[in-house]
Amino acid sequence: MSLITSSTREIPETGQVPRHIAIIMDGNGRWAKRRFMPRVAGHKRGVETVRAAIKACVEHGVEYLTLFAFSSENWRRPVDEVTFLMQLFITVLEQEVVKLHENGIRFKVIGDLSRFEPRIVEFVRNGEVLTADNTRFTLTIAANYGGRWDIMQAVRRMLAQRPELAIGFGEEDLMPYFALNYAPEPDLFIRTGGEKRISNFLLWQLAYTELYFTDTLWPDFDRRALDLAIRSYQQRERRFGRTSEQLQSAVAAGERKKIAEKMSTKKAVKLG
Ligand code: IPE
Ligand code: IPE
Ligand code: MG
Repeated sequence: MSLITSSTREIPETGQVPRHIAIIMDGNGRWAKRRFMPRVAGHKRGVETVRAAIKACVEHGVEYLTLFAFSSENWRRPVDEVTFLMQLFITVLEQEVVKLHENGIRFKVIGDLSRFEPRIVEFVRNGEVLTADNTRFTLTIAANYGGRWDIMQAVRRMLAQRPELAIGFGEEDLMPYFALNYAPEPDLFIRTGGEKRISNFLLWQLAYTELYFTDTLWPDFDRRALDLAIRSYQQRERRFGRTSEQLQSAVAAGERKKIAEKMSTKKAVKLG
């Protein structure tokens, strides 16, 4: 069973720094086009941004970063571009997985890998095994991922393993079968490139995620841009269905409790 809770069943604990950031890295093609370069030059440049984003997230104390690299609908692109993206994925895997491991980063891939070349699948699985015990930071790449695919595969796998649930099941039965079952739901979702849509990314998990959209194209999304997104997150009031007044009185009660605890330890020291 997964230890991860559902935001629609229990109110999650939240802090100043988002524990989990999920990003749709969009705008590579337009970045290249503006420079009269082929679209794929934008993808190549986007890899640099990925490196910088991982570093910045680690430094901020974020624990999970999930990046949408290739959607289940991106096969509709011209063959040349798809081939380039696959090749780029292999190259980056070859170069980076060991470095991720050296930096204590766990590497995971979510998505339907059955359409990928066996060589890619092998690289991915080896990388996952190599980095499995790194707990400080988890980088997840969503490749041939679709939110609907994820929900469907979860239901299918659950029913295959537990056929008795065919007559009825709950969220907690299904959740362990989601591809992202090892991570808490994202606190902050970022989409670069100006579009205001989810494009079949994490549909289930974004239920109570704070959404942030920016016109900045992915290759231009630098540390400053990420800091702005985190700052915007810090100004949000996450209510999870409650009223603002309820939250404020909960905060006041928490503060009262802290003060009471402080006063009682002081007293104990004096008396002891
Ligand atoms: C996102 O950039 C990267 C992938 C989908 C692989 P795009 O390639 O979608 O860039 P635009 O949206 O065409 O500018
Ligand atoms: C979403 O970007 C997928 C990734 C970033 C991998 P797209 O550029 O494919 O999304 P749409 O087609 O504009 O919705
Ligand atoms: Mg796009």
